[in-house]
Amino acid sequence: MAAGDSFSVTTPIFYVNDAPHIGHAYTEVAADVLARWHRQSGVPTWSLTGTDEHGQKILRTAVANGVTPKEWADKLVADAWIPLLKTIDIANDDFIRTTEERHESVVQQFLQKLYDDGLIYDGEYEGYYCVGCEEYKQQSDLVDGTGEFAGQYVCPIHGRPVEVLKEKNYFFRMSQFQQRLLDLYESQPDFIQPDSLRNEIVSFVRRGLDDLSISRQSFDWGVRVPWDDKHVVYVWFDALINYISALGWRPDAPAELFDRFWPSNHIVGKDIARFHAVIWPAMLMAADLPVPRRVFGHGWLLVGGEKMSKSKLTGIAPSQITDVFGSDAFRYYFMRAIAFGQDGSFSWEDLAARYQAELANGFGNLASRVVAMVGRYCDGVVPEAGAASEAEAGIQRTVADAVGTASAAIDRFAISDSIAAVWSIVDELNGYLTVQEPWKVAKDDSQTERLHTILYTAAEGLRALAVLLSPVLPQATQKLWAALGAEPHLGALADQRIPDAGEWGQLPAGARTQALEALFPRIDHEATA
Ligand code: MSP
Repeated sequence: MAAGDSFSVTTPIFYVNDAPHIGHAYTEVAADVLARWHRQSGVPTWSLTGTDEHGQKILRTAVANGVTPKEWADKLVADAWIPLLKTIDIANDDFIRTTEERHESVVQQFLQKLYDDGLIYDGEYEGYYCVGCEEYKQQSDLVDGTGEFAGQYVCPIHGRPVEVLKEKNYFFRMSQFQQRLLDLYESQPDFIQPDSLRNEIVSFVRRGLDDLSISRQSFDWGVRVPWDDKHVVYVWFDALINYISALGWRPDAPAELFDRFWPSNHIVGKDIARFHAVIWPAMLMAADLPVPRRVFGHGWLLVGGEKMSKSKLTGIAPSQITDVFGSDAFRYYFMRAIAFGQDGSFSWEDLAARYQAELANGFGNLASRVVAMVGRYCDGVVPEAGAASEAEAGIQRTVADAVGTASAAIDRFAISDSIAAVWSIVDELNGYLTVQEPWKVAKDDSQTERLHTILYTAAEGLRALAVLLSPVLPQATQKLWAALGAEPHLGALADQRIPDAGEWGQLPAGARTQALEALFPRIDHEATA
């Protein structure tokens, strides 16, 4: 199947030197929302995440903890990284670890192919290296150290001195790909998004590219260079290949998943966009493989104005939030409050305020009220609607428009805009009930048909909301689907299609509703203090 008929999305693979914080969970949720949206739209979808386990950073952490790097990685993956997926409700299709044989063998084959084609040579690297970034640095990337680091060059991202390397390394002829990369950025303008990041990367590549050192000799925690086992492969060169090793790619052999799902959309933090938008497509061009579909660099979660990080002790564990607010609220908050592609400040106050106003009072209360009124006034059976007035026609239009606007926003990866478009249905329905006052209409026996029309309209609006919000709020929408009694008539929520969600009148009269517990219960303020 040609890509375009399918959707494939990846997260970065995460270093296992430490446990995840909410910045990592943010990337995971964004990729998951995009994947669930496409799946729910009936598009064959593949989503991949995993862990990056080689390199000096992991090796040093393991040594400092008195275990082997593999033991360290196994423990962190089992105790922290796999559990994260459950904590924030990620429905990934695969999880790749770079220490798996299926990955290591592909790294070696990929490298051998480039070597055989004359794209790798041996040379000497002399320069700086930041172990925190696992990156070779130019002097211009660094700042002068102060205090205990006076007289040394410091990495501005990690605030620690870089190391001076002088090693015999293998080099990838990346400089040869400068023009082809510039042509790619030109011919595929959405290859790097958002535009601000695209501009930054285009000017970086215009300044010229050096060849890239792709092996290390001074330690051995990595994939062996196949023709020279004194060297291990540079950790980024190894890690980037996960995106195709997970799809079963190998040179000169068919790979069903690769054929169906490559090229992928890569969701990455802006700090690692260059690796994905420069080095990775150059590697793929060198191997005669198609470049990624898109590299989207999202912003940082800031705490106190700075990029949140464990090393700066500003890290917040995802479970600190989900234990109080639940995984749906975690997903909603970060996807709604921060424009995808921009930085966003995290605060407990903002989270608690949006939870209360938008999830509990906005959506949750709407759902409970409507289901309760169908229970009370119609014996728990969705009523037949009578003639629609302009008010009902307005709701139908809002739903149909929201589907189009939200889908167009998702195509741009503008996740927050997409949720805002769907939320217009929540706001309109709440306004509709306030104006129509079905609780008053119910008191007048001559107005039964009108009451039924109002309640049908509200219940059918909730049907559309359950489908459209399921990528962001998988748990709450599942409960709502059950409460609306939709499943026996329409099938499972997972089988509803987003592009059809705006077609009015799908929830049949006669569907039996069930009691609905509060979707977003009141939070005891003690818990967030
Ligand atoms: N292992 C590499 C990626 C290799 S991909 C072939 C790596 N790992 S990481 O664990 O350090 O970071 C993974 C991702 O988390 C990056 O996209 C990074 O931007 C993101 N974040 C780390 N801190 C973050 C915030 N404070 N806010 C948002 N995202 C952040 O880099």
